[in-house]
Amino acid sequence: MKHLFNYSGKDIISLDQFSSEDIFFLFKNAEKMKSIVDNSKPTQLLAGTVISLLFYEPSSRTFGSFSSAIKRLGGATIDITNPEVSSSVAKGETLEDTIKVFSSYSNAIIIRHKIAGSAKIAAEASDVPVINAGDGIGEHPTQALLDMFTIYQHAKKLDNLTGLIAGDLLNGRTVHSLLRGLSLFGNNKIYLLSPKKLQLSKADFFYFKKKGLKLVEISNTKDIPKDCDFWYWTRVQKERFKNLGDYEKVKNAFILTPELIKEKAGKNTIFMHPLPRVGEINTKVDEDKRALYLREEIKNGLYIRMALLALVLGKL
Ligand code: NCD
Repeated sequence: MKHLFNYSGKDIISLDQFSSEDIFFLFKNAEKMKSIVDNSKPTQLLAGTVISLLFYEPSSRTFGSFSSAIKRLGGATIDITNPEVSSSVAKGETLEDTIKVFSSYSNAIIIRHKIAGSAKIAAEASDVPVINAGDGIGEHPTQALLDMFTIYQHAKKLDNLTGLIAGDLLNGRTVHSLLRGLSLFGNNKIYLLSPKKLQLSKADFFYFKKKGLKLVEISNTKDIPKDCDFWYWTRVQKERFKNLGDYEKVKNAFILTPELIKEKAGKNTIFMHPLPRVGEINTKVDEDKRALYLREEIKNGLYIRMALLALVLGKL
């Protein structure tokens, strides 16, 4: 299959950069990475490359899986976590200056930052490819790519899907990237379940509609249609609230429970979550083999990030 987007040397900032062909091309390479990892095949695709991980916000999976992906491919990392405390940022250095410095030290920069739009600013300042690992309430493209890879493995398609996305749709960057990704494929109908205050912004809602997604906003679990292809649950993003009292009011608005599953899910509905979860999925759901958040989504994050890095660095 022809891929339109030549990954080599590109920044990865938004799912808007991708075409459906680009997504499938990445998946094909992620399958290769899966076979490398699963069969413990040694590979040195990234030998001699150094990649900076600049994480201005907390992270477990994104940091861990990028770090693992680089090392499994024979590359090395410079790990800067908490730069506000541990680097010259503490002395008042601008993002642009920090990026210019680390682009001299490394072949690529992976950045997580609390301000939406900062990954783009970093890409403009950098001489080497920049990968957005989450920019505030903006986007989280690599999470959406692994989420779509997971959906594809189960539904065997990325068009004609019916899905449910629940939780914090206003602030959830994984949701913003996932909706962009799903809008690249035809006839997808997505139910959006959230408290009124955490609905998609009007701008996002109309943007995704214009891109061809069928969106149905609901505020009650009774309106979830039966037999969705996937349910994608998310955490209410506490750190984005100015007033903690407001957070407390909505944090447990929608909880994924075995009872809800029994009532509304189909036998092939998969249950997803980008993690961390903080109470919005009852742990009893974990035993259900349709629950993929602690299993396939985690593994897929590694394969997708390995493939993406190798492509961006021109090694595939
Ligand atoms: C998400 C994030 O950081 O946006 N976590 C992740 O990277 N998988 C989701 C979240 O924090 O709720």
